Amino acid sequence: MNPRARIAGLGKYLPAHIRTNADIEKLVDTSDAWIQERTGVRERRIAADNESASTMGIEAGRQALEQAEIDPAELDLVLSATTSPDGTFPATASLIQDGVGAVRAGAFDVTAACVGFLSALATGSQFIETGSYKRILVVGTEVLSRIVDWTDRDTCILFGDAAGAVVLEASDQGGPLSFVFHSDGSRADKLYAHGPATRRDIDDHDYHFISMDGRHIFKFAVQAMESAAREAIEAAGMKIEDVDLLVPHQANARIIRATAKALGLPEERAMVNVDRYGNTSAASIPVALREAWEEGRLHDGDRVVLMTFGGGLSWGAMVLDWAPVGPLSAAAEPAHATASGS
Ligand code: COA
Repeated sequence: MNPRARIAGLGKYLPAHIRTNADIEKLVDTSDAWIQERTGVRERRIAADNESASTMGIEAGRQALEQAEIDPAELDLVLSATTSPDGTFPATASLIQDGVGAVRAGAFDVTAACVGFLSALATGSQFIETGSYKRILVVGTEVLSRIVDWTDRDTCILFGDAAGAVVLEASDQGGPLSFVFHSDGSRADKLYAHGPATRRDIDDHDYHFISMDGRHIFKFAVQAMESAAREAIEAAGMKIEDVDLLVPHQANARIIRATAKALGLPEERAMVNVDRYGNTSAASIPVALREAWEEGRLHDGDRVVLMTFGGGLSWGAMVLDWAPVGPLSAAAEPAHATASGS
């Protein structure tokens, strides 16, 4: 039987500085009440000047390795998903590989905006399931505050900075049961941020800021996450009612509630922390997964559905068979390890 890619460790890093809705009221014409009602966001974290996607990814990665009790020198590969990398190159994954001390590992980035972490997780899982590699660190990390226009009320209310990480380890239990990915590049103009190498015939002085058609994305999001989740659940040979926990991309509490409803699941079955962090793109799912574990919401044998959407446009979902985290011999139960949560 092929090895399975069990999640052996979970990590997160949130920058210390909190920017509340009241702080944003001082920057643009908006209100705390409007932001909370339309998005569910109360506050978000903002990276310090000396922090970046790699420094935050290193912190999240270390926590995940510690929980898995894996020596970084044993890692075979480091994957990083980010839309706000330290630079055009090298890959942010290489900086994380160095920072965590993964001296034997290869490293590369997977770029798919808010679908980035799920894409990296599926990529890493397959290296393990084929038997090529045994231990892989997968990081989602973002400093979106640096590509948000803080004078644009359509976007600046939504986003924040964070990093999350998982360690995958070859095992006979746990890991992905199915995944699906989709893309519609014809709608790239609905959500994008240009970069320094963008086409030179585009007259766009604010090239690196996030640009978004909010209403279009809202409608797309619910439909896309619902259909991807249904597809992944069917591919795993399950029924909707077998789902124990939804861990959706944390973009907007209304989108999460509407998707749970469209799937016919109670909204309490969905993990929500968008109120505290806003939309952290590739970091949102690993941070939510870590916090689901901290809250004791992940149990041995649970069926967990990760689902996401974003720039591309792109969308996808994955079903996980949850096996306890920690070393193979003595996998930690949530109650034992809350002290290591940051
Ligand atoms: N503060 C106060 N008022 C605002 C505002 C803000 N930040 N932004 C827009 N408004 C106003 C609008 O001008 C409009 O006023 P009007 O009715 O007088 O014309 C009204 O609020 C409603 O605007 P609308 O754009 O229809 O709001 P909405 O309910 O669609 O909410 C978003 C806007 C952006 C919160 C919502 O569309 C959304 O979350 N979309 C998805 C975005 C997303 O997830 N992006 C990332 C994907 S990875």
